[in-house]
Parts: sequence; structure tokens; C-alpha cells
Amino acid sequence: MSAQIINGNLLAQSIREDIAKRAAELTAQGEQPGLAVILVGDSAASMVYVMNKEKACNANGIYSVLEKYDADFTEAALLERIDALNNDPKIHGILVQLPLPAHIDERKVIEAINPEKDMDCFSVVNSGNLMVGHPVIRPCTPYGVMKMLESINYPLRGAHAVVVGASNIVGKPMAMLLLQAGATITICNSKTRDLAFHTRLADILIAATGRRNIITADMIKPGAVVIDVGVERDENGKLYSDVDFANAKEVAGYITPVPGGVGPMTITMLLVNTIEAAERRLRARQQQ
Ligand code: GUN
Repeated sequence: MSAQIINGNLLAQSIREDIAKRAAELTAQGEQPGLAVILVGDSAASMVYVMNKEKACNANGIYSVLEKYDADFTEAALLERIDALNNDPKIHGILVQLPLPAHIDERKVIEAINPEKDMDCFSVVNSGNLMVGHPVIRPCTPYGVMKMLESINYPLRGAHAVVVGASNIVGKPMAMLLLQAGATITICNSKTRDLAFHTRLADILIAATGRRNIITADMIKPGAVVIDVGVERDENGKLYSDVDFANAKEVAGYITPVPGGVGPMTITMLLVNTIEAAERRLRARQQQ
């Protein structure tokens, strides 16, 4: 039997309706949510992402600033821009698109962002809050995946979730959110021996490696929920992902497609994070 498809476009649309309402309420109270996105360099893929972020902000009543700099923009100049945005009252969230050019220290840049405005949840403070179970801001992609699991009412308590990929952007924070929701977690990485042994035990399988078709149908437990986070384009623009979708969907119980799966959820949760940051600012202002 073919798996049920978890449609990220549809789910994102319904969340964006709520976002637009909350943005309008905030704006009416003098706190229009604002997001700044910084892109350094001219990666075509990054350009597509940041343009989509800006479009999504504009469509939902969020003030947006897009700052684009050439690949030779200096680290000092970037830190100066971050400082200015940290102090800009119209901006509630800052996102610096990764990867940055090699001459810029990514960690230094992330830590320069005011943690209250760190919409990716990349800083040590925000990662620490997530780790101890008090996430103030949730990282966008893992937050989106949690919403997808919620949308199918999947019982997470006691389920075995296997996360393939241990990046700071997806794998590690994903594992933390699932753990907090009561799941038992296995995190696999590129050194894992016999990956299929682990993936076949998964009630929920999250693939976030960026390695084309690394998850094949024989690696999936029948009926499992399969979430495909990895995405890659070849030189002709053809899209690939971590999961061999055509065959995997005949084994899985639920599966996310690419495109139209996790991708639209990531941008949507960035908007949610920006709204939540503006709501926190408004509450703080009202308590003064
Ligand atoms: N590059 C790829 N994914 C992301 C993300 O979620 N946030 C940022 N800042 N850069 C990225």
C-alpha cells in the first residue's frame, strides 16, 4: 500500500494564515514584526532561498530587509551590519544565510547576533536553552518537521526516532525536539556502521544528510513515518533528496515529498519565529 503524503505546501499555507493574522494584530499595536536577512556572496541556491524568504514576509505582513553583499565583504563590515540590526527597533529577527565565504568566521558571526534576534536558534545560548528543554526560539527546519508530525497526530511518546545526519542546523536540534516530545532517539552520522540496521528500527525516520537517495526502500520499516530533509540540485537544476521517494513510498506509512515537503515548512517557521519574537517584545514593552 502506498504511503500517505504529508503535504508541506498545504500545511505551510494554513500556518501562514495564522501568521498573517498575528502580524496584523502586532502591527495594530505598533510592533510590526520585522526580519532582516543577510546574504554574502552569489550562490544561486542561497539567492533563491533568501528571495523566497522575502516574498513570504511581504505576503504575510512582515516587514523585511534583505541585505546582499559581494563575496569579498569583510568580516568586520558584516559584524558592523549585525550590530546595526541588533540595535534597530524595527527588526525582531536576523538571519545570516549560511554558508558564508571561507574568509568569514561563521561562529563569530552567529554569536554576534543578539540571541533574542537569532531566528535560526544557532547561537550557543539558544542551543543551550534547547538542550536543557526550555527552547525560547526553535530552529526553523526541525520546528517545521515537528509541525508535520503534529499534523498527522503521530504519537511521539515512546516512539523510536532515527535521525540520519548530525548537523547543527538540522540533525542535532531535531533530535533534541523529538527527545523533549518523549521519543527515543538514535542519531546517525557519516561514520555510522551499518546505517540500514538503525534505520530499519525507526518508527520515525528523519533523513538530513544532503546525500542523494541515501535512504532506499529496503532501509525503511513498513509503516514508518519518513521525513526527507535533504535537498540537492544537479548542474541541470534537477532536484534530488535523501530519500528514494518512488520506492520508499511503497513501504512507508507516511512520507514527505521533495519539493513540497519540508522546504516550505522551513520558511514558514522562520516567519513564526519572527512573529513570536515580536510578541515577546510587545509583552516586554507592555510590562514596562
Ligand atoms: N543555509 C541552509 N539552511 C539554512 C538555515 O536554515 N539558516 C541559515 N541561516 N542558513 C541556511
